[in-house]
Amino acid sequence: MTSSPWWRDAVVYEIYVRSFADASGDGVGDLQGIRSRLPYLAELGVDAVWLTPFQPSPMADGGYDVADYRDVEPLFGTLADFDALVTDAHAHGLRLIVDIVPNHSSSAHAWFKAALAAAPGSPERDRYIFRDGEKPPNNWTSVFSGPAWTRLPDGQWYLHLFAPEQPDFNWRNPEVHEEFLDVLRFWLDRGVDGFRIDVAMGLYKDAGLADVPPSGEGFMSRSPIWSRPEVHEVYREWRKVLDSYPGDRSAVGEVWTDTPEDLALYVRPDELHQSFNFAWLEAPWSATAFRKIIDDTLAAVTAPTWVLSNHDVIRHVTRYGEGSLDPDAGLARGRAALLAMLALPGSAYLYQGEELGLPEVKDLPAEARQDPIFIRSHGELPGRDGCRVPIPWSGTAAPFGFSPEGGHPWLPQPAGWAALTAEHQEGDPASTLSFYRRALALRRSLRASLPGTVTWLDAPGDALVFSRGELTCAINCGTTPVPLPPHAGLLISSGGPDETTLAPDTAVWLRTAP
Ligand code: NOJ
Repeated sequence: MTSSPWWRDAVVYEIYVRSFADASGDGVGDLQGIRSRLPYLAELGVDAVWLTPFQPSPMADGGYDVADYRDVEPLFGTLADFDALVTDAHAHGLRLIVDIVPNHSSSAHAWFKAALAAAPGSPERDRYIFRDGEKPPNNWTSVFSGPAWTRLPDGQWYLHLFAPEQPDFNWRNPEVHEEFLDVLRFWLDRGVDGFRIDVAMGLYKDAGLADVPPSGEGFMSRSPIWSRPEVHEVYREWRKVLDSYPGDRSAVGEVWTDTPEDLALYVRPDELHQSFNFAWLEAPWSATAFRKIIDDTLAAVTAPTWVLSNHDVIRHVTRYGEGSLDPDAGLARGRAALLAMLALPGSAYLYQGEELGLPEVKDLPAEARQDPIFIRSHGELPGRDGCRVPIPWSGTAAPFGFSPEGGHPWLPQPAGWAALTAEHQEGDPASTLSFYRRALALRRSLRASLPGTVTWLDAPGDALVFSRGELTCAINCGTTPVPLPPHAGLLISSGGPDETTLAPDTAVWLRTAP
C-alpha cells in the first residue's frame, strides 16, 4: 500500500492571526502568541495550522492587503519569530500552511507606489490594471460594495475587486508570474508545508474587460471576472515549484464556483492539490441538502475538502440557530455537523474558536468594527468582524487570556464568554472543546483503515446514514427522534449518549454492524 500524502485527510485549523493570541499585549494577536498555544492545538488533535496573512500590511482588509510578500508585519512579530514558529509547530507534529494573496497587493506595496509615480503606459503601471477614459472602463463593482475602479488625478482608473487599497495585479504581465514564483520559494525555503491561495479564481480577468452580465444561475462561470481559463496556467507553474521541494508541499485554493465540476478544474493532477468546497458552508440545515452536497462533491473531485466556518462568514453555530425557537439548536447542530464532516473522506478545515462553540458576535459597536465591508457599505452590511472576535482562553473577564492582563483586544469580547473559555471547558467532559478533542482523536485512530468511498444506508425522516468501512455515521436534521441504524456499538455522540434513538439535531458515530 502506498502511503497517501498528509493533506488528503488532514484536519486543518485556521488561525486568524489578529484574533488568536496576543503575547505582546497590544491587543492584536501575534506569532509569539500562536507559538505559546501550539500545545493546545496539538492536544486538540489537528494535523495542520493555516495562518491568515501576517506580512507587512496597512490592515485595510485585516492583512489581505499585503505591502511586502517577504517579511512579517511588525504588529505580528519578525521573520525570526516566524522561523521559530515553523520549528515549534513541526516539533509539535503540526504542519504549517501560509496564505498567499496573489490577486491584489496593498496600495502601500512598492510596486503600486512605483506605478503611481510613473506615467500612464509605463512598465510600472502594467503590473496592475490601469485604463484611460472619462468613465470607469466597465460596470464592475467591488466585492466589498461600491465601484471596482478608482480614478487617479492624472485621469487613469485602476481596478480593485476589493477595497481601493487592494489594487489588482495584471497577471498578463510575466513579471507578476516571476514575482509570485519567487515568493512561493521564499516561504518554502523557510519550511512551510503548503499555501492557502486567496481569491484563487480571480487572477485573470477577461482580456477585453467586458461588462458583467446580470447575475443569476451559472453566474460565476459566465462572469468576465472569475475563473477565466488562463488562471489554470498559473497553478500549473506553481505546482512545478511545489513538486520540486521534498515532503508533500501542498496548495489549497480559495475557489468559489457555481458547480463542483468547475471546482474540479482547479484540482486537476498538475494544478492545485485541493480547493475549498464551500457548498456545505452555504447549505441549510437539511439532510437532503447535505446528501446532495456530499454526492456531488465526491462525484466531482478526488481530494474533497469540507468547511463549516471561516473568517469570512457568520459562525456556523449562529447560522444553524437562525430560524429555530430552541436557543440551543445552533450549538447542537454545529456539533452534529462536525461529526458528519469528520466522517467523510477528504480533509476538514476548522476555524479557530469553533471548538469552543463560539457564536457570531452580532452586537459589536459600530466604532469597534474594522471590516471594509462594514465601512464601505456605510454600515448597511454588518461585515465579518463578528466572527473575528479574539479567542477567550481563560479567566472570568476580558481579555480572557487573549492578551496579558490589562490588555485591550482589538475587538471587544462579550462578557458572557467567561463560560466559553478554553480553560473553563477543559475539565468538562460535556463541553464542546472536550467533544472536539474526542471526535478528532477518534478520527485519527480510524482514518487509516477507512475506505475513500461512502455507502448510503436507508435513513428515516430527515436523517442521513452512511458508512465507510467499520464506521457508520448518522445525523438527524429532522424534528423528531429516529431509531439508530443497526450497529455494533456507539463510538461518539454529538449530544447525550443514547444506544437506541437519534435525537433531533444530533449525530453519532457507530461501529458498523457486521
Ligand atoms: C478572501 C479572504 O478570505 C478575505 O478575508 C479577503 O477579504 C478577500 N479574500 C480579499 O483578499
